[in-house]
Amino acid sequence: MNFDIYKFTCFLNNRVLIIGANGQLGRIFINALLERGDFVLASDINTPKPISLGCEFIYLDALNQRKIKKAVLKYNISQIYNFAAVLSAKGERYPMKTWEINMGAFLNVVKASIGTSVRSIFWPSSIAVFSEESGLELVRNEVPMFPTTMYGVTKLAGEKAMSYFNTQGLIDIRSIRFPGIVSSSEPGGGTTDYVVEMLKAAKQNKSYVSPLNKNTVLPMMHVEDAVSATLKLMNVERKKISINGAYNLGSFETSPKQWSEIISSLGYELKLEFKEDFRQSIADSWPKEIDDTQFRNDIFWSPKFDAKSTAEDILKLI
Ligand SMILES: NC(=O)c1ccc[n+]([C@@H]2O[C@H](COP(=O)([O-])OP(=O)(O)OC[C@H]3O[C@@H](n4cnc5c(N)ncnc54)[C@H](O)[C@@H]3O)[C@@H](O)[C@H]2O)c1
Repeated sequence: MNFDIYKFTCFLNNRVLIIGANGQLGRIFINALLERGDFVLASDINTPKPISLGCEFIYLDALNQRKIKKAVLKYNISQIYNFAAVLSAKGERYPMKTWEINMGAFLNVVKASIGTSVRSIFWPSSIAVFSEESGLELVRNEVPMFPTTMYGVTKLAGEKAMSYFNTQGLIDIRSIRFPGIVSSSEPGGGTTDYVVEMLKAAKQNKSYVSPLNKNTVLPMMHVEDAVSATLKLMNVERKKISINGAYNLGSFETSPKQWSEIISSLGYELKLEFKEDFRQSIADSWPKEIDDTQFRNDIFWSPKFDAKSTAEDILKLI
């Protein structure tokens, strides 16, 4: 192969380690990265059953920095996607564990990457960093943030730390504050899980009890749009990225009532009841709409799906 072409191919094709690959987002990222032509090494503390990922899988605990480094060196990893986390609703049941896992995983991945072949890390943040003080009607990228959940606290702490590491030039970390993600894969214990659960109930002709008030509006996104935005962010030159912290990212907004109306308009009968639980107060402290102008201007990205086409597409996949 011509050397210049070889260098070009090496630049385009990454050698990716995904940590926490067996969750709602991990599997979808595996497929997208493989399609891109990247080498993918998937890892988690939960082994997928059956192992049918289309790539190599290893057991890897993100709290074990030595093992992360060993995998990085053995597989000559150039990018890490760090998805290991305890999410918002689950995190309120185990706040101490949430801090230990979310911050432990964040720091271990950074420490295991510095001085190795790892060129960049993707670490997702969340709309959970925001609070009433952020101006919830339409939340801009840089606003006051006083997260109400331990999950949000860990995301904000990680954002501050990544900003420090980027500013110091220690390692290149990139991040997006994801809204609620709509996918056909199982959600992992977040406040926006109802969007997926409602689609599953509709498909199986079951009734659904919404943990959120019918009029609670939250930002959401088709998982394919979350993946396309992330891959674009991870493959642009660092100089195109105008911030050292995390980007806002939005697509559409919906409430349980609006979502059930969309589902009905697609020909499904969904019997819906409402029984608010502790997730309501979490949702009340989160944005209704996200201003992601900065991301769209820097990365030249826009979503492919709106609310209706998201529901339609995911219903087909469930
Ligand atoms: N899904 C969403 O709606 C959403 C929204 C905003 C941000 N995010 C963020 O995206 C990332 C992935 O989210 P997800 O929905 O796939 O979560 P998930 O809960 O479905 O998956 C997380 C995975 O991490 C693994 N994990 C937990 N502890 C680990 C450890 N010590 N070592 C290795 N793996 C470990 C779990 O086994 C699980 O497979 C998280 O950082 C989350 O905060 C997700």
